[in-house]
Amino acid sequence: MNILYVSGSPRKTSNTDYLLKVALAETGGRLIKLTDYRIEPCKSCWFCQKVHKCVVEDDMTKLLIPELIESDGIVLGSPVYFNNVSAQLKAFMDRTWCIRDKFRNKIGGTVVVGRHYGFESAVTAVNAFFLKHEMIPANRGVCGIAFERDEVVGDREAVDSAKRLGKRILELLGLIDKKDSFFYNDNLSEQERSCEEKPS
Ligand SMILES: Cc1cc2nc3c(=O)[nH]c(=O)nc-3n(C[C@H](O)[C@H](O)[C@H](O)COP(=O)(O)O)c2cc1C
Repeated sequence: MNILYVSGSPRKTSNTDYLLKVALAETGGRLIKLTDYRIEPCKSCWFCQKVHKCVVEDDMTKLLIPELIESDGIVLGSPVYFNNVSAQLKAFMDRTWCIRDKFRNKIGGTVVVGRHYGFESAVTAVNAFFLKHEMIPANRGVCGIAFERDEVVGDREAVDSAKRLGKRILELLGLIDKKDSFFYNDNLSEQERSCEEKPS
């Protein structure tokens, strides 16, 4: 299975990465850390409207977007920062604006880790990303409780939940054989398929 696990944690020994790896152990795939890549924030230049690709020349355009398009599923992980996702993950999500018709029907998974506050709003931010891209969220998301490095290892509920996320992704991938599925419409025009909005 071609599942891309994306970590928005800047920590080397990261709670988020730990839970992502637990899910990855179920599905296979690849874990990337956004801090290993140079990713500029979206400039809202709208050139992508005209040329159908992002004109910012960085690792997002050159390396990550091609890999994302090839994937069957994308699991986004983030530490909870001020009740939201990390700046690294937010920049990553915004930069997919230029390919918003390319993730349709991919499976989405969510992992967030925080000390105490704001899990729901961080999960909601990731779910909004999945829904905007017309992806299929695998479940309500994994929430780990941890503050210090490695602390999430002791959150057995979160570890089990990450395992279940992996299994759920496999289950959905088994169900969604895109070519045969009754809800996959290969005949949609580019315009019908597009979930883009016109700039106001
Ligand atoms: C800038 C910053 C903001 C944070 N904001 C929150 C928060 O709003 N809620 C919370 O529960 N924890 C918050 N934390 C704690 C982290 O979410 C926590 O340390 C988490 O385990 C980090 O995950 P990681 O090890 O994967 O990086 C914050 C930490 C930092 C550095």
